[in-house]
Amino acid sequence: MSITYTGKATNSEIEARFDQDVARFSNMDTGQATTLDAPLTMELCTSAALQVTPGATELLDIGCGAGNYTLKMLSKIPNLNCTLNDLSLPMLSKAEERVSAQTSGTVKTIQMDMRNLELGNEQYDIVLAAATLHHLRAEEEWRLMFSKIFKALKPGGSFWISDLITHDSSELNILFEQKYGEYIESLGGPEYKQKVFDYISYEDTPRSINFQFRIMAECGFRNLEVLHKNLCFAAFGGVK
Ligand SMILES: C[S@@+](CC[C@H](N)C(=O)[O-])C[C@H]1O[C@@H](n2cnc3c(N)ncnc32)[C@H](O)[C@@H]1O
Repeated sequence: MSITYTGKATNSEIEARFDQDVARFSNMDTGQATTLDAPLTMELCTSAALQVTPGATELLDIGCGAGNYTLKMLSKIPNLNCTLNDLSLPMLSKAEERVSAQTSGTVKTIQMDMRNLELGNEQYDIVLAAATLHHLRAEEEWRLMFSKIFKALKPGGSFWISDLITHDSSELNILFEQKYGEYIESLGGPEYKQKVFDYISYEDTPRSINFQFRIMAECGFRNLEVLHKNLCFAAFGGVK
């Protein structure tokens, strides 16, 4: 899996792939098999959000997929008003169906590239973005997203990311890629590993925690914290 920043999948290609993958993202217990510690990072991001704003009423889930993170959040803070965003309509429809069954709050869906979201000011207590920001490409796109999210949070609200990451050290990138490859191979053999590495190479542009923290800090976030890290996956976030 070598990460390049040019010649990547287009949004239409990404949308089409996720349109076909709703079932895989609808399992609360396993989350995604290719994501290390997926259930733990979901638990930690939602616990952190609960701890920071126990009285939260408004949640935004960016790249929500089939809604796993929102459902986990609702298990800790019931009846939140939920805003769900995803590029893929089948994902969003599944999320809407599952989330509506679990909250008496409002459920708003926005099918849109996250870069185009108009989120307004001080709307949300909690913003979650799991396994999705790695679709952002140039640094300016990350800055745009983080500044929108900062503006959209109420003061004291929090933003939690769980994602594939890179490292600033190329040596550690090699080490963690090798170890992640061994893990994927243990799940499905060498062909499966190649398949996963090929789609990561084509589709994803992950960034390091340091890169994301730097931009978050520049946008005004404080109390930046790493909740968990295992090889090239991490959960982290901050408070407005
Ligand atoms: C790996 S899934 C993760 C879903 C969910 N957050 C979870 O953890 O179960 C990534 C999701 O991000 C969505 N996505 C990809 N690019 C996006 C974009 N530019 N804007 C909004 N959503 C996007 C995909 O359609 C997909 O549903």
